[in-house]
Amino acid sequence: MSIIPVLFLVCILIWQLSSANANDFSLETYIVHVDIPDSQLLSEQSQDLESWYRSFLPTTPASSTETPRMIYSHRNVFSGFAAKLTSEEVKAMEGKKGFISARPQQVLQLHTTHTPNFLGLHQNAGLWKDSNYGKGIVIGILDTGIFPDHPSFSDEGMPPPPAKWKGSCEFNFTACNNKIIGARQFQKGDGTPLDHEGHGTHAASTAAGNFVRGANVFGNANGTAAGIAPLAHLAIYKVCSLECSESDILAAMDAAIEDGVDVLSISFGGHPREFHDDDISLGAFSAMQKGIFVSCSAGNSGPFSFTLSNDAPWILTVGASTIDRTLRATAVLGSKIELNGESAYQPKALPLGQLPLVYPGTIGSDFPDNYCDQESLNRTGVKGKIVLCYVSNEIRTSKIDQGRVVKDAGGAAMILMNIGRDGFTTSADAHVIPATNVNYEDGEKILAYMNSTSAPTATIVFKGTIIGDKTAPTVAAFSSRGPSSISRGILKPDIIGPGVNILAAWPNYVENKTNTRNTFNVISGTSVSCPHLSGVAALIKSVHPGWSPAAIKSAIITTADTVNLENQPIQDEKHLPADIFAAGAGHVNAVKASDPGLIYDIEPQDYIPYLCGLRYTSREVSKIVQRRVNCSEVSTIPAERLNYPSFAVNRFGSSNQSYTRTVTNVGEARSSYTVEVVSPQGLNTTVHPRTLNFSKVNQKLTYEVSFSLPAFGGDAGDASQGYILWKSAKNSVRSPVAAFYY
Ligand SMILES: *[C@@H]1O[C@H](CO)[C@@H](O)[C@H](O)[C@H]1NC(C)=O
Ligand SMILES: *[C@@H]1O[C@H](CO)[C@@H](O)[C@H](O)[C@H]1NC(C)=O
Ligand SMILES: *[C@@H]1O[C@H](CO)[C@@H](O)[C@H](O)[C@H]1NC(C)=O
Ligand SMILES: *[C@@H]1O[C@H](CO)[C@@H](O)[C@H](O)[C@H]1NC(C)=O
Ligand SMILES: *[C@@H]1O[C@H](CO)[C@@H](O)[C@H](O)[C@H]1NC(C)=O
Ligand SMILES: *[C@@H]1O[C@H](CO)[C@@H](O)[C@H](O)[C@H]1NC(C)=O
Ligand SMILES: *[C@@H]1O[C@H](CO)[C@@H](O)[C@H](O)[C@H]1NC(C)=O
Ligand SMILES: *[C@@H]1O[C@H](CO)[C@@H](O)[C@H](O)[C@H]1NC(C)=O
Ligand SMILES: *[C@@H]1O[C@H](CO)[C@@H](O)[C@H](O)[C@H]1NC(C)=O
Repeated sequence: MSIIPVLFLVCILIWQLSSANANDFSLETYIVHVDIPDSQLLSEQSQDLESWYRSFLPTTPASSTETPRMIYSHRNVFSGFAAKLTSEEVKAMEGKKGFISARPQQVLQLHTTHTPNFLGLHQNAGLWKDSNYGKGIVIGILDTGIFPDHPSFSDEGMPPPPAKWKGSCEFNFTACNNKIIGARQFQKGDGTPLDHEGHGTHAASTAAGNFVRGANVFGNANGTAAGIAPLAHLAIYKVCSLECSESDILAAMDAAIEDGVDVLSISFGGHPREFHDDDISLGAFSAMQKGIFVSCSAGNSGPFSFTLSNDAPWILTVGASTIDRTLRATAVLGSKIELNGESAYQPKALPLGQLPLVYPGTIGSDFPDNYCDQESLNRTGVKGKIVLCYVSNEIRTSKIDQGRVVKDAGGAAMILMNIGRDGFTTSADAHVIPATNVNYEDGEKILAYMNSTSAPTATIVFKGTIIGDKTAPTVAAFSSRGPSSISRGILKPDIIGPGVNILAAWPNYVENKTNTRNTFNVISGTSVSCPHLSGVAALIKSVHPGWSPAAIKSAIITTADTVNLENQPIQDEKHLPADIFAAGAGHVNAVKASDPGLIYDIEPQDYIPYLCGLRYTSREVSKIVQRRVNCSEVSTIPAERLNYPSFAVNRFGSSNQSYTRTVTNVGEARSSYTVEVVSPQGLNTTVHPRTLNFSKVNQKLTYEVSFSLPAFGGDAGDASQGYILWKSAKNSVRSPVAAFYY
């Protein structure tokens, strides 16, 4: 079995370069960055922002049909606009004073109950009580829109929108209420914020869905569904349907900043790009400057290194992990061997009984027929049989679609076995046929059984919802991995959160699962874990309204759990201890994050020495921070010196390094912290001083950490991990330390 390094399928958003070079004379949408207009220039020429932008555009009409050239002009994300241009016209524009850059927009494709309790949130107690369930906070969701008429978006118990709220509702019916306080659409030609995919409805209800009793999918995972911040407001920005374009995303971020959201949840991303050339990172910087917390999915390209996106240090980069609930569907072989897999579709009424088991592939050989394509099913003859298939690694083929193909060919049931890449990460999908997804090891056992008998048989026994998987959380196979390829000195991902087989709201008209309004669905992806963290950020913001985005992020990172429910180190999809570049600081602990003791704060201007230190030009840095910066006049710092709550130390060719960090006391006024250091292998780590005594709230103290290299060198690719832990009588403030040799 070869392990095929392709993108994971469930909810991947891939950036696809549009066919920019196809025709030099054709009009395309360009994202254009220009200098921030001088306020003097603007007032002298009595120009407004838009006419400054228009001065870059050709004076000729775009075409005989008089297509408007300007698509969006931005006010907040950055100085620039989106316009229809030919490549010739862009060349002409390059000569104009104030022009920075232009490139064709990218077209993006959509990648793709129990979690509040799993995160320690309980009604009328603890953090939910202290934070008032996120009351008053506005979470902006950039996604596929929303199905507003779902009970998760009832505004029972919700206050009216905050006074600062400036958003609007673009539904053509009375869909908005005190829960959904804004709904806008940025898809040219679609005309409605209505969700035709399900993805956006799922994300919105995960972050801030109201309480809904008896939520389930086919009767499974039954319980009271609620978002992480059930009384926070939602502001919906529809930027994707089947595809999303970059200009729409930017326009939506621009609007969200203007409208007054507190948290932005962005569950898509692309290949890693330099921060000045990555529009999500640019928009997120502007949002952060206005105090908006930005939470983004890390991507679904794991388990391979250097695959994560949305890795700017002003973004919370979220990986995905399992929860302790399984929707068990057990494959029982003729040999009586029982192998537990998962499925959300659990037809229990008619037991299947032992059925002939067929495998359309050749045992021991590779694709394509082992993924159960139609042709191989025809050849094998699957009528009335139970069919064994590998999980497809083909983009856009969902596991549900694989079942549909088997069903159409007459198969009675399907056992989907993981390929090696996916290890133990199985998914509980809403299949159209009795099915189970078993892990890679168990798949190998089934193949060995088939090889051992001339008349193999199997059945699937549906065992319903089982809570108590003590190996949870484990990092999902698909969760993208660090190190960050753009800024290796910043540890990414930051955190992992629930992202496998998560039940949340779903439109009843998309692949409808039941015939009621209470439609829920189970899906997986970092696009599911991201809105969980957006909800956690909303709760923290509700308890600590004055905290900066960096402070909230620090609280989340330094209080993360590093062990699973069995008190063992968190594992990955292979059930090996998870690498620091898979799990980041560990699994979010929402309750502890609201009371971190100390925080590592970062002011927006602190990023300037860091960005200049990435060897970006002054112009590139200005493009990010949206004001004129001259890097020659800035004392630059290496990435490791940013006051980040974690450390990533590259040992390659480097000498001894020492960095300072400043912590702010947000716990008890008089508190004394002592340090505990576990040095990553290959480094000696010393911290000075070893005690920090605080006497007031908001007092800042600085410490120095030195990493020395007792033995120079290592093997390329080596990575090791340790931590620096500040401990008081009440709080533990843990900074993970990654050491790597790349
Ligand atoms: C409202 O929007 C829906 C979906 O876009 C459309 O089918 C319907 O005709 C619209 N109704 C009105 C009254 O505009
Ligand atoms: C879900 O649970 C509720 C309350 O425990 C119960 O009344 C309801 O019948 C259950 N629904 C299903 C489909 O099991
Ligand atoms: C199948 O069985 C044969 C004979 O027992 C053995 O040589 C072969 O390795 C087996 N193949 C697989 C893929 O298990
Ligand atoms: C499989 O068989 C069906 C029905 O016999 C036929 O319509 C279909 O074209 C076949 N598909 C392939 C790929 O051979
Ligand atoms: C949902 O699916 C059922 C069965 O396929 C169908 O009868 C029903 O009309 C569908 N409901 C909606 C709202 O599409
Ligand atoms: C940036 O600063 C340097 C050093 O002070 C100066 O020589 C240079 O002219 C400045 N560049 C710009 C564009 O202002
Ligand atoms: C690093 O520091 C250690 C002591 O902490 C010292 O022994 C070693 O020589 C130093 N290495 C370099 C390259 O400076
Ligand atoms: C901090 O306070 C403790 C007693 O609470 C004392 O022993 C220690 O010397 C103090 N450390 C510093 C650095 O002031
Ligand atoms: C590194 O730490 C070890 C254990 O504390 C110590 O024995 C060794 O001397 C240190 N090496 C350097 C170069 O500081």
